[in-house]
Amino acid sequence: MQVQAISTQPIAGQRPGTSGLRAKVKVFQQPHYLANFVQSVFDVIGDISGQTLVLGGDGRYFNREAIQIIIKMAAANGFAKVLVGQAGILSTPAASCVIRKYDAFGGLILSASHNPAGPDEDFGIKYNISNGGPAPEQVTEAMFKRTSEITAYNIVEADDVNLDEIGQFNMGDMQVQVIDAVADYAALMQDIFDFDAIRGLLEQDFSFTFDAMHAVTGPYAKVILEDMLGAPKGTVMNGEPKDDFGGGHPDPNLTYAHELVDILYGDDAPDFGAASDGDGDRNMILGNHFFVTPSDSLAVMAANATLVPAYKDGIAGVARSMPTSGAADRVAEALGINCFETPTGWKFFGNLMDAGKVTLCGEESFGTGSDHVREKDGLWAVLFWLNILAVRQESVEGVLADHWAKFGRNFYSRHDYEAVDSAAATQVLQNVRDQFDSLKGQTLAGRVVQMCDDFAYTDPIDGSVSTNQGVRVLFEDGSRIIFRLSGTGTSGATIRIYLESYEADVSQHGLDAQVALAGMIDAANQISKLPELTGRDKPTVIT
Ligand code: G1P
Ligand code: ZN
Repeated sequence: MQVQAISTQPIAGQRPGTSGLRAKVKVFQQPHYLANFVQSVFDVIGDISGQTLVLGGDGRYFNREAIQIIIKMAAANGFAKVLVGQAGILSTPAASCVIRKYDAFGGLILSASHNPAGPDEDFGIKYNISNGGPAPEQVTEAMFKRTSEITAYNIVEADDVNLDEIGQFNMGDMQVQVIDAVADYAALMQDIFDFDAIRGLLEQDFSFTFDAMHAVTGPYAKVILEDMLGAPKGTVMNGEPKDDFGGGHPDPNLTYAHELVDILYGDDAPDFGAASDGDGDRNMILGNHFFVTPSDSLAVMAANATLVPAYKDGIAGVARSMPTSGAADRVAEALGINCFETPTGWKFFGNLMDAGKVTLCGEESFGTGSDHVREKDGLWAVLFWLNILAVRQESVEGVLADHWAKFGRNFYSRHDYEAVDSAAATQVLQNVRDQFDSLKGQTLAGRVVQMCDDFAYTDPIDGSVSTNQGVRVLFEDGSRIIFRLSGTGTSGATIRIYLESYEADVSQHGLDAQVALAGMIDAANQISKLPELTGRDKPTVIT
């Protein structure tokens, strides 16, 4: 089989962000754009000859074309085997599961997560290492450096492979194995959770709706929830994956998952509702007229972990991203287990999990997971909640009320200002930074500022340092205001403001979070001058 070395030139801007390289489909379709990046990955990840690569994506527009190019490049670069999901599909957590199960060298996952899909929307690619988790920053920076030096890439001349049938065949010296995209992941879920107890719950007078948002989790949810656990057909809504996600924005939050939210807040609402995102790693948990913040969800999981067979002997610890609320910290303290605060992005959890320091991890951005894989995992979180509800025989709201009574409530909200002018966004953060000294000791929203800083993290396992991970205003009573710029957007800048205040008084726990945090929200606007600089008077999305 003929290996071609195609001459190319560096293309600017191929630096992976919070979660891989993302850009508009039209950018990815430019000559050499994808191939340059893939070759740069292959060039820096070590000796790949004779190794196995896992490959799959969330099925968005351009997924199939990208897979064909990558298979031919893998063959030309010396991989012995590619494991590719049927139809080119693998959810992000399923890809992580497959990498680990088959001892692959790593995997390429094609996804821009929850960003809209279609010819004019987004595409993305990220590389996961042999532990199944996102490549750490040193590796992604090496990839970026390589993209700026590249002069040629290798690709074999071959026909496109048939991705639709399970089976294996050769491309030159490389074997291509098309695998069932769901089976390995479903088997792992069965190992972790008490499927009998969940089946029992679903047989009771318990109603449940799962929204796959026309994205990758549809086939996974149908197999696991409907076929294996016996939930009635139709429990999974929007379960047919589409390459444009049905024109939607598959981000499971109160704004974008409004179809599900309307059902859970409507008449005859089901007992439980959940949704996942474009590539299946995020989750949203709802009860009847009740929203569980992702920060609280992590804390509840930690407090109830022993109800789940895989964690019955207890968990080693929890880790949360810095902007995530401190609710889980209170559980960790009560349980006497490890608790870590990391920068935003799942890649920072991998070392802690590999070292056995933590079992559960979570981010306020609707991400929760455990050491069963090295990605956050949407359906896993849904099954975790079903397992808790099956054992406790309580409503979602009941579980939370009990949790807050025991640990207190961390009121929490994130306000996003999307597609803001980049210079204005940078200035918003700079305004706060400029007041680091003067804010200290001042009273804002009735609370005294204890300290301000730019969050930095030293990885306790490998000692690597990550700086500028968010501007923090920390109050004496533990309340926090945090400003961060998104690292996953593809147009302009997105400012995220994270707000948190702690309330021990049970009589206040029923308050709406926006009401409880109103003073903090005003303070955030005032110190950052966000409204003046951006011309915005309200956030694009509130979660
Ligand atoms: C966002 C979330 C972050 C998450 C990432 C990938 O990144 O905030 O928690 O890990 O997506 O799903 P951001 O856009 O804030 O950089
Ligand atoms: Zn995602």
